[in-house]
Amino acid sequence: MEHFNNFLWGAFPWLAIAAFFVGIFWRWRTDQFGWTTHSSQIYESKLLRLSSPLFHWGMVFVVIGHLMGLAMPKSWTRAVGISDHAYHLIATIPGSIAAVAVVLGFCGLLYRRIVNRSVFLSTSKSDKVMYVFLGLALLSGTIATFSTQVFGGPQGYDYRETISPWLRDLIVFNIHPETMVDVPWQFKLHVLAGFTIIAVWPYTRLVHAFSAPVGYVTRPYVVYRSRDSRATDMRRHVAWEPVRNHHSQLDKSETPSHGA
Ligand code: HEM
Repeated sequence: MEHFNNFLWGAFPWLAIAAFFVGIFWRWRTDQFGWTTHSSQIYESKLLRLSSPLFHWGMVFVVIGHLMGLAMPKSWTRAVGISDHAYHLIATIPGSIAAVAVVLGFCGLLYRRIVNRSVFLSTSKSDKVMYVFLGLALLSGTIATFSTQVFGGPQGYDYRETISPWLRDLIVFNIHPETMVDVPWQFKLHVLAGFTIIAVWPYTRLVHAFSAPVGYVTRPYVVYRSRDSRATDMRRHVAWEPVRNHHSQLDKSETPSHGA
């Protein structure tokens, strides 16, 4: 059991961080023009106009909350006069509202992707993997927050005594898996799901988070060209699945037969 805990709370997070940086480097070297959201606005925009800001603005607050709760030691918030109880309320009330916005936005985006045929057909394998892992991270975070902070009594669970110092130590290679052992399972699940989505992040369209919104203004356009049958390494790139796959039946029947 000890080895398993060492793996989960020592090795796994660092494997995920390594996968993240290797992926960012690899993507930058081989696929700069695939560094995009792969926008599907052209296919459908009504549901997108509602769900996308709900999700993204919710995420902005979730990220701010994570920075506040995980990076800042208790002593800092106390030093500026925020009592532990006040911190708990500040984290829980806006945190829960942000969580609901993110989950609603995510469900809207997922619904649109499944129900709208054009959006569905433009969904690649990497998108599907991304939706599963992102959904797990969001849902587990929301479940952890609601079950322990909102409905778990007036004090909630004080992750600033366990998860936060564990994470700050982990980052500077001061690894203490034992700090995580007695954390409620909801948060354990969430931390693992969080590191998993970090590991797959650069290999999916989520990579756009690191250029939005500034990069889009100054970089050249993504140029769309018609397909041809030559397959280069670039065309086989993980994030670019040729549309032909989805239409293979159609293509076959439409292709005029030569000879025979
Ligand atoms: C990119 C990956 C992640 C996503 C998408 C994510 C998402 C969420 C969401 C939606 C919530 C509920 C809303 C909120 O309270 O802000 C949450 C809460 C939380 N997450 Fe994450 N999370 C991620 C990574 C992590 C990691 C790596 C850790 C710790 C090592 C972590 C620790 C927490 C904690 C402690 C809370 C509770 C916050 C509170 O109750 O105030 N999260 N997360």
